Amino acid sequence: MIVCHCNVITKAVIAEAIEELVADDPYRLITPGLVYRQLGKRGKCCGCFPQVVALIVDRLEQFQTSNPGYTVQRTSIAPGLQADLARPGAFEGIALAPVRQRDL
Ligand code: FES
Repeated sequence: MIVCHCNVITKAVIAEAIEELVADDPYRLITPGLVYRQLGKRGKCCGCFPQVVALIVDRLEQFQTSNPGYTVQRTSIAPGLQADLARPGAFEGIALAPVRQRDL
């Protein structure tokens, strides 16, 4: 399944890049931009970024399940901001923040 139509990148390729980044450093802040850099690509319209964020969250949650000391903190998005976040480029600067258990 193609997730990024601008760069013709499949879900499997994106998931593999996320896997490499998590394996390298699970406490690194993983953003769609970082995933695309790992692939040697760049976001163009960035319409795929919400799907890439969902893949990042899924992978980090899987990692948390297999590593109980690792915690991913989700930030809730206010309903009024959800429409704004649906526009292209809205995810620039927004990232998921892995948190070490001792930081909580
Ligand atoms: S669909 Fe991925 S950058 Fe446009």
